[in-house]
Amino acid sequence: MTETVIVRSFPTEKLDAATRAAIIRVCIAAHQEEDFRNLFSYIPSGGRHFLAYRDGEVVSHAVVTTRWLQPEGQPLLKTAYVDAVATLPTFQGQGYGSAVMRTLAQSIADYAIACLETERIGFYARLGWERWRGALAGRGNEGLVPTPEQEGILVLRLKQTPPLNLDSLLIIEIDGRIW
Ligand SMILES: CC(C)(COP(=O)(O)OP(=O)(O)OC[C@H]1O[C@@H](n2cnc3c(N)ncnc32)[C@H](O)[C@@H]1OP(=O)(O)O)[C@@H](O)C(=O)NCCC(=O)NCCS
Repeated sequence: MTETVIVRSFPTEKLDAATRAAIIRVCIAAHQEEDFRNLFSYIPSGGRHFLAYRDGEVVSHAVVTTRWLQPEGQPLLKTAYVDAVATLPTFQGQGYGSAVMRTLAQSIADYAIACLETERIGFYARLGWERWRGALAGRGNEGLVPTPEQEGILVLRLKQTPPLNLDSLLIIEIDGRIW
C-alpha cells in the first residue's frame, strides 16, 4: 500500500449506529466469532475506538478500555486494555492493522501501561509489544485467581510506565472477565 492510512479515533458515546454496525462486521469477519454482535453490550461507554478507512469504509478497528494491572512490587497501574483488534480479511496484510495500533499507542499517554491478549504475538512484537513471561493472576472479591494456562498476554511500555520485570507476577483486577 503506498498512500498513508488515515486512522480516526472516537469515544464509544460518539459512534453512530452505522459505524457501530461496521465495527461489528469487521470484528466478526476477521475473528469468525459471532459474539462480537454484543461488543457494545460489553463496552456500552468509556471505550476509545481507533478506525482505519478505505474509500470511506471502516476496514480496521481496535478499542481501548480502562482496566487495572499490578506488576509485582508496583502500585496499581491505569491500563489501556486493547480488544477487538480486527481488519477485514480482504484488506489484511496491507498495513491497516499496524496503522491502527501505531495511532492507538500514540494516543494513550494518559495511561501507565497498555495490555492485550493475543495469538498473533509476532504482529504486536514488531510494534513494540512485549510478552509477559512471569506468572499471571486475576484479583476479585475472593482474592487471587491464578491463570497458569493463559498465554499471549502482551504489554506495551508507555512514557509513564515504571521499570518492569517481565518475569514477575502480573495481576489484573477482574472486571467481568480475567484476561
Ligand atoms: C491481526 C490483524 C488485526 C492484523 O491486521 P492487518 O491489517 O492485517 O495488519 P497489517 O497489514 O498492518 O500487518 C499484518 C502483516 O502484514 C505485513 N504487511 C503490512 N503491510 C504490508 C505490505 N504493504 N506488504 C506486505 N506485507 C505487509 C505486516 O508486516 C504484518 O506481518 P506480521 O504479522 O508478520 O508482523 C488482522 O490480520 C486480523 O484481523 N486478523 C484476524 C483476527 C486476529 O487474529 N486478531 C488479532 C488477535 S487479538
